[in-house]
Amino acid sequence: MNLSHSITIRNALPSDHKTVLSVIPEWWGGRDLRSSLPKLFFLHFGNSSFIAEKNGILCGFLVGFLSQDHPEEGYIHFAGVRPGFRNQGLGKTLYRHFYTHCLTHSRTIVRSCTAPENRLSIGFHRRMGFVPEPGDIMEDGIPVTLGYLRENDRKVVFKKMLAEKYDNAPE
Ligand SMILES: CC(C)(COP(=O)(O)OP(=O)(O)OC[C@H]1O[C@@H](n2cnc3c(N)ncnc32)[C@H](O)[C@@H]1OP(=O)(O)O)[C@@H](O)C(=O)NCCC(=O)NCCS
Repeated sequence: MNLSHSITIRNALPSDHKTVLSVIPEWWGGRDLRSSLPKLFFLHFGNSSFIAEKNGILCGFLVGFLSQDHPEEGYIHFAGVRPGFRNQGLGKTLYRHFYTHCLTHSRTIVRSCTAPENRLSIGFHRRMGFVPEPGDIMEDGIPVTLGYLRENDRKVVFKKMLAEKYDNAPE
């Protein structure tokens, strides 16, 4: 991993919300997903969400939480890395921070989802060991779940099993 040592990772704060929202359209290639990330996540899930910074500049973030209804599961709702910082291991590092948080709380399943159009995210999740759950239809060989988060929503739903025993380097 070539990740710069000057990048620091800390838990998210409510005051991070505005900065995170401001980068979403650019980081997601023009898709405006800001309405899917209300401040609620930063008010109530800060200790399971992470901010990566270099010299005070946001270079990555992960918003996740421990499921209330599924005691073995954690869920990654949003994660992004600043375009100039990609392919250097930062996304993986943020995911590993979340895995550690999950395992510390006896969560051995991590779930996430992404739009079927987001091939970059699908490739990343597969590389990170996530497996697509069976969906309602197949699109270009990928199972797609219909109506997942709202009406007419289409998502590739991912699941990853973490090693039950914390080994300090969960993939
Ligand atoms: C998806 C994203 C978070 C990945 O972050 P990143 O810092 O570039 O990822 P990393 O460098 O940590 O990559 C980890 C591994 O995944 C691989 N990888 C990264 N992007 C990939 C892709 N598009 N396809 C296949 N593999 C990919 C890397 O090669 C690396 O593999 P390795 O472990 O063998 O070295 C980043 O591209 C991004 O922010 N995209 C836009 C937002 C988005 O779509 N987020 C999706 C989650 S909501």
